[in-house]
Amino acid sequence: MTDLLEPGQRDAWLAEIAAAGDAPTLKDVESRLLGKTGAISELLKSVPKLPPEDRPAAGKAAHALKQELGAALDARREALDAAALEAELAGGDFDPSEPALRDGPGSGPTRSVRVPLGLRRGTLHPISIVRNELVDLFKSLGFAWLDGPEIENEHHNFEALNIPGDHPARDSQDTFWLDDGNLLRTHTSPVQIRAMQRFEPPMKVIVPGRCFRAESVDASHEHTFYQMEGLVVGEGVSTANLIHTMKTCLREILRRDIEVRLRPGFFPFVEPGFELDVNCPFCSGKGCSVCKHTGWIEILPCGMVHPNVLKAGGIDSERYTGFAFGMGLQRVVMLRYGIDDIRLFMGGDLAFLAQFDEVSE
Ligand code: PHE
Repeated sequence: MTDLLEPGQRDAWLAEIAAAGDAPTLKDVESRLLGKTGAISELLKSVPKLPPEDRPAAGKAAHALKQELGAALDARREALDAAALEAELAGGDFDPSEPALRDGPGSGPTRSVRVPLGLRRGTLHPISIVRNELVDLFKSLGFAWLDGPEIENEHHNFEALNIPGDHPARDSQDTFWLDDGNLLRTHTSPVQIRAMQRFEPPMKVIVPGRCFRAESVDASHEHTFYQMEGLVVGEGVSTANLIHTMKTCLREILRRDIEVRLRPGFFPFVEPGFELDVNCPFCSGKGCSVCKHTGWIEILPCGMVHPNVLKAGGIDSERYTGFAFGMGLQRVVMLRYGIDDIRLFMGGDLAFLAQFDEVSE
């Protein structure tokens, strides 16, 4: 080795690395030392020219020196980075609450704070985006936002909603039962009962939340899904109020002027019960494969709260009436963005999920 290097050369290189005062200078030193045509490459190239008995030791020493210089460069780079960050933080114009650069250096607003390559700011899930917007909308209409347990008892999930044990409606809401007799709620409707038990009329509440059913999964069914329940109870609440409220909200959330229509629908906890349809966004009502050539898309079930349900909630059903609706959040998201497979939401596909970022700004 000593044959290959001038005396003191190694120390000189290490000193040069230690003296590099900023990142560009360090880079320059690095390429002179370790670059393709750098000093160490030259050194390695000269090994074969040595007498055969000297080559193994010289080669080993050259590699060791390469590693030593590499480590010194890394250490210096880290020290410079830390110092730069320190200076930035001390500089007073650093705002830790500012959103991170989206895709690391080189995109978005230019700042000298370095974001490690590959670090991406997360985005809201499209279901959260739509849920948040709906909550804001309903809040602006005077609704309160309630939450309820995902593990429910049979009474709240079924009986109090006018679905006794032998009712056929239980078949369509098969779910996951726990050993203690409780179940994973099949809809957000049990929170209607909890709300009525807790508050006096008049009341207007929404309940976004996760629900579960023992469904086989396909393009439009998931075993885990999101609903948003709505309940309004007061004196003189009518179907006209229901239609107006739904129209107002759906127009906003689907971002277009819409037509709605009601068809009869059966749910034991409403009477009368309806399926509410909107005119198809894909063909403007002319008829296409999405709306099965009807021009209408079923968007949510709703109805006037059944007197038995009011009673189960401790409300005087002679004096008060109410309406309720159960919005399938995934369905609304699918309609709004034209997504045709419900399984995409849970697939954990970041490329799919990141597309909805525009609205989460
Ligand atoms: N809970 C019903 C379901 O999940 C939907 C619904 C809610 C229907 C409120 C009418 C009124 O199928």
